[in-house]
Amino acid sequence: MSVLLQTGKVYLLRKQFNNIFSKCIFYRKKSDVSRKFVTFDEIVALRRAEARRSLVVQVNSESSFNELHGYCSKYASINDIHHYRNSGGEHFMLIEFNSEENLKDVLKSCSSHQKDVDVMGVQSPFLWFRASSGVREKYEQSIKQLAVKDGSKSVNEEVLYEELLNCDSVSDQIQMLYDRTVLNDIGVRLRYMVARQLEVVFSSLYANIRVQPFGSSVNGFGRMGCDLDLVLSNNLDEHNLISFVTQSSQKHRLVYQEKKSEGARSPSQRHMELLGALLELRVPGAGRVQRILNARVPIVKYSHELADVDCDLCCNNTSGVYMSELLWALGALDARVRPLTGAVRSWARAVALTNAHPGRWLTNFPLTLLVLFFLQQKQSGPILPSLNYLISLAGKEDIRVAEENLNCTFLRDLNKLPTDSYSQNDDDLQTLLFKFFEFYSQFEFQDKAISINEGRAIRKPNSLPLYVVNPLEQSLNVSRNVSYEECERLRLEVRNAAWHLESCLDGHKSDDWGILGLVEQKSSRGLKKLLRVGNSHRLVSVKDLFKDNDDVEPSTEGIRSKMEKF
Ligand code: CTP
Ligand code: MG
Repeated sequence: MSVLLQTGKVYLLRKQFNNIFSKCIFYRKKSDVSRKFVTFDEIVALRRAEARRSLVVQVNSESSFNELHGYCSKYASINDIHHYRNSGGEHFMLIEFNSEENLKDVLKSCSSHQKDVDVMGVQSPFLWFRASSGVREKYEQSIKQLAVKDGSKSVNEEVLYEELLNCDSVSDQIQMLYDRTVLNDIGVRLRYMVARQLEVVFSSLYANIRVQPFGSSVNGFGRMGCDLDLVLSNNLDEHNLISFVTQSSQKHRLVYQEKKSEGARSPSQRHMELLGALLELRVPGAGRVQRILNARVPIVKYSHELADVDCDLCCNNTSGVYMSELLWALGALDARVRPLTGAVRSWARAVALTNAHPGRWLTNFPLTLLVLFFLQQKQSGPILPSLNYLISLAGKEDIRVAEENLNCTFLRDLNKLPTDSYSQNDDDLQTLLFKFFEFYSQFEFQDKAISINEGRAIRKPNSLPLYVVNPLEQSLNVSRNVSYEECERLRLEVRNAAWHLESCLDGHKSDDWGILGLVEQKSSRGLKKLLRVGNSHRLVSVKDLFKDNDDVEPSTEGIRSKMEKF
């Protein structure tokens, strides 16, 4: 991390990072061997450092921006400033200061209510800007020095529909859909702020903790408005953890007493109960807290009203983070992977193959594995290597072991990939999307399992309708909840989609040509429902989450399918 903070390197990383998250302009082809990849850990460190020197401040209206900027500049120098509005229409400024020291100086000037126990102060990085009580100071000049980046512009569906309609090719449509809907910089910053807030609030009870986003918020496949998966874990990395354990057992004679867990519930259930209570009582912005403690991995769901994001918090599930790292790496290898996956995700939602509620259907995570698997096939080039290949190239620095001794080792630094493993495949996005549908319309789901470890179909170990091997825990099927009917629907819908794309080949542009005919919801005109990621559906009632399923214990299948990962 300290290396990252060297200015030159940060600048370089940010440049590469912006490339990755704004517009991917490179394909992983032989001609691109000189391209440098940034590792997932480097990006995470950069984002975490950014969050540690940032604040989110609620303001009255846009006219307060200058005043806030001028006010904060009195205490510290500002590096970057962003504006957004939450769905309640309230205004916020996300301010990044030059250093953590700067931020501390600003915090020293903050006040809080401390009158009674109901509102006893909590110091988190979410603040509000009080109206000036005396004569207003003039700050007109200050804001001009630093442009405010407006992050509140959500996708304008009407405009996007027109833009997609006017694209020259289906490939352009796929790229445009991705560029317009990908989780943007402020979306990522805010997610790291929400994680940072929990670290700040919980650290008075838990020493050396780290709260880290995982899932679509960080794996490169996230869209505007996607949920935020968070994991609370020990802040020590693998190597430090080993030396910490040995050191403390051997050298240090004074050892902290520990609290032993008591009672019928498991320790992780007890912790999640406590975190749920803390979220309700001590975390500004957190609301609608739901505890789902009977799942294999207990989670607490809540809605962060200030950051406008729905969150799922769990404990000690680093395998989820490593999984995100794996998906991130595969997505970074070739600039076509993320737009293609984005199109497939949009299509699957439009035809209701995926659904925000857990149940008997597919979710985005296994669907993404289906796309990655397709890109590993000989028919597709192949564009991506198998996970086994990445494992075979791993060095000592790549060793990672998650809970329950789960080996999550694979090559992290993609710059080390031998140049002869670069793809020769030149297919454009339209061709790849068509081939994807064609591939799965012929796939033998009844006998074969999908394994990105092998990069080829393997024999199914049981008769579940859809079998997608969990890449980091191969004895598990990440789609074990999917019913026979839903698997049949998948086969039908991929065939329909292939036909639709084939019918566009004549170049005639109807109002549902190309991607439009795939991603518009059948029931509604325009892109409205399609582009909304589903925030309004994310907080489902606990009853919904425990909805039926017949091949495993009915009460928990919904959750288990989502959390079976661990
Ligand atoms: N995960 C896993 N194994 C599973 C399910 C999930 O390892 N069986 C991990 C993956 O890293 C996944 C993350 O948990 O990305 C979050 O799961 P989920 O929220 O269901 O998927 P997302 O990828 O975040 O997609 P979405 O945008 O739909 O939330
Ligand atoms: Mg998620």
